[in-house]
Amino acid sequence: MSNNTAVIGHPIEHSISPKIHNFWITEHRIKVGEYKKISLKKEDVKDFFEECKAGNYKGLNVTVPHKELAFELCDQVSTIAEKLQAVNTITFSENKIIGDNTDPIGFKNSISLNKQKSHIENKKTLVIGAGGSARSIIYQLKSMGAHIVNANRTENKSLKIKEDLKINFDFCSLQDIPLVLKNIDFVINTTSLGIDKTDNNLVDFNLLKESSYVYDLIYNPKKTHFLKQAEQKGHQIQNGLKMLIFQAAASFKIWHGVEPTLSDQLIKSLD
Ligand code: ATR
Repeated sequence: MSNNTAVIGHPIEHSISPKIHNFWITEHRIKVGEYKKISLKKEDVKDFFEECKAGNYKGLNVTVPHKELAFELCDQVSTIAEKLQAVNTITFSENKIIGDNTDPIGFKNSISLNKQKSHIENKKTLVIGAGGSARSIIYQLKSMGAHIVNANRTENKSLKIKEDLKINFDFCSLQDIPLVLKNIDFVINTTSLGIDKTDNNLVDFNLLKESSYVYDLIYNPKKTHFLKQAEQKGHQIQNGLKMLIFQAAASFKIWHGVEPTLSDQLIKSLD
């Protein structure tokens, strides 16, 4: 069947994007095949895009580590993708590869409630990590009026984000995080620390401003060591599941023209 969709990455086995998309494909009776996950090595991505262009794919989601390569392979990209120099959503249309990035809107929609937004606008936020996800988060937080401190192991990566996005923010080394915590209203971990259930001790929550909101982009495990520690100290916490779902929703809308919702049923189906 033509009009198919899938996610590509390497590794990809852990991805729950197929569960999310297939739930909505069924819910909205979209006439496409099953959304698949496809493991692709870097050297195979270009040929795969050409195959898709020639035939049976409507679109692809792109995940780690191919978002930057996908950007380079596109014939046309959205303003946001251009800014981030990374693509997570590809559409094949009229023999062209069109790239977009729905990560920032996914993050924005995941923090749409007042209890979260009130910790961001004109407030001080700490973004830990300077990888691909941090780029989208920093871009979005800045456009929501946040003051940003970016903490990362490698300073150069943080400087590169500043340069590419043309955004002004402060840098802080991981060792210096304790020095900024007392003024921080929103903390977000974008590093992969904690994904394999390892401890993440980058923040001493005893030093963090009392009313601060704590977010971890990791959604598996649902409550990382980082979030558990924050919760124990009385902070409101959130994991990355909603962002994943909302970025998927934005991709779904691009391909199928329908804006799907985040229902309790969907959340249950992911358990
Ligand atoms: P993603 O696209 O998910 O953001 P990434 O681009 O590989 O993934 O970025 C991973 C981030 O986690 C980076 O900021 C990385 O720090 P460096 O920039 O110094 O490499 C950070 N990270 C990964 N493992 C870490 C560790 N053990 N301690 C501290 N930071 C770590």
